[in-house]
Amino acid sequence: MTGAAGPAPASSTAIDSNALLWLSQGMGDLPADDCHLTPREAARLAGMRFEKRRSEFRLGRFTAKRALALALGRDAAPAALAAFEIGSAADGAPEPRLDGAPAPRAISMSDRAGQAVCLVGPAGLALGIDLELVEPRSQAFVADFLTEAEQARVAAAGEGEGRALAANLIWSAKEAALKVLRTGLRRSTRSVEVELLGGLDGREWSPLSVHLREGGELAGWWRRCGAFVLTVAAGGPIPPPRALVEPPGLAAAVPSAAWCERTGVALRSRVGAGTPSGAGSGTMAPSSGTNPARRSKR
Ligand SMILES: CC(C)(COP(=O)(O)OP(=O)(O)OC[C@H]1O[C@@H](n2cnc3c(N)ncnc32)[C@H](O)[C@@H]1OP(=O)(O)O)[C@@H](O)C(=O)NCCC(=O)NCCS
Repeated sequence: MTGAAGPAPASSTAIDSNALLWLSQGMGDLPADDCHLTPREAARLAGMRFEKRRSEFRLGRFTAKRALALALGRDAAPAALAAFEIGSAADGAPEPRLDGAPAPRAISMSDRAGQAVCLVGPAGLALGIDLELVEPRSQAFVADFLTEAEQARVAAAGEGEGRALAANLIWSAKEAALKVLRTGLRRSTRSVEVELLGGLDGREWSPLSVHLREGGELAGWWRRCGAFVLTVAAGGPIPPPRALVEPPGLAAAVPSAAWCERTGVALRSRVGAGTPSGAGSGTMAPSSGTNPARRSKR
């Protein structure tokens, strides 16, 4: 397990319960066996048909449990992580438990191209985290899923890398916000508008705000991390997240080749360059037979 044996955790004792903390892990960090899973999680895994989803589930659970263990100052060795269980609410949101009781922290999870991230915060605070690659996005994607103000922000970023960063950052912040709201992509991506409160440098955490169509707003932060962009959002004011492991593995992570093959062929034509589903509404109706989010994102 390269990750656990690599960079040292920031602390080995419980961290202030109000802190906002994040951890990334890659497929190479996974233990060889599934000793970090509870019997219920192992049964869920056994019912998954597709290897990609199985890998994501194993890595996502491992990352969330390790993040919780480090935040709580507990043993973060793989076998000890079976004390945690990451269930799923009916809407899909993660429900962490420790020794059979609700865990004393809230979490949010995301994965992309062989990397998983978990955000840990105070119990009861609605949280969202999302991880995206900085990759080209088509004009059709931007026009369909972003509001006019967001489209203008992307246009102002110019071409090439700047445009890719702006488009993926705004998209990612929407997904983080829709996790805070617990709707996911059942809700229109245009009903939440991302405002970047700083420039596009992204080497440090930079603030953003997400305005809800019905009124109100969510607070958030974003940063660039190697090939990726990472966003977080919450239902109340939050400080910039602190990494549980420094330096974060994500900064030097290479996006998994399997993902690149897939996007290069099938998905870019279907989502990036093609006509997105739900055109005009920014909503991806979850009735098409495939997970709308996975289809949109990957
Ligand atoms: C939330 C959502 C936008 C994330 O999709 P994504 O970008 O492809 O995937 P990410 O890796 O960024 O995030 C996945 C994680 O989001 C979390 N999540 C899923 N639904 C969520 C919700 N309603 N609220 C908050 N978090 C949610 C889960 O922890 C999930 O990982 P897990 O299934 O392994 O526990 C997408 O799953 C969605 O729109 N879900 C609602 C519609 C749907 O398909 N529901 C089916 C499940 S009930």
